[in-house]
Amino acid sequence: MTSETIALASDHGGVDLKNLIRDELVAKGYAVLDLGTDGAASVDYPDYATLVAKALKDGRASRGILLCGTGIGISIAANRHRHVRAALVHDCYGARMCRQHNDANVLVLGGRTIGSEVAKDCVDVFLTTAFEGGRHARRVAKLADAGER
Ligand code: RB5
Repeated sequence: MTSETIALASDHGGVDLKNLIRDELVAKGYAVLDLGTDGAASVDYPDYATLVAKALKDGRASRGILLCGTGIGISIAANRHRHVRAALVHDCYGARMCRQHNDANVLVLGGRTIGSEVAKDCVDVFLTTAFEGGRHARRVAKLADAGER
């Protein structure tokens, strides 16, 4: 069991995998904040990235998982929020490295590009791998300062 709350959201391209991941997380004892979408109707992925970013910012969740068809659009949208470090991942190596080296706080998956079993493994690795800190902490700190203001 864990007391960690995970914010979860997708557009229509990721909704089936999002629902499957939600059920897995609940079965493992995570609290899940499912922010939608709920069905196959076409919606706009930036809206769902924003919902998860807000949940992290106001402390309703400590980490997030986002999905769209490819994972590309929703990861671009999520990373517009300065407190978000969203990593689009296609395998367990990426899921591990985004935690160890990048301290990613949002995992992004493509509902149309990844198999469900690989996706579930990625989620498990993402949620159980610690940030290594050290030289990586310096680089992650630079991310917060990067970009035009
Ligand atoms: C929606 O059709 C699709 O464009 C979206 O899910 C995502 O893949 C965008 O990057």
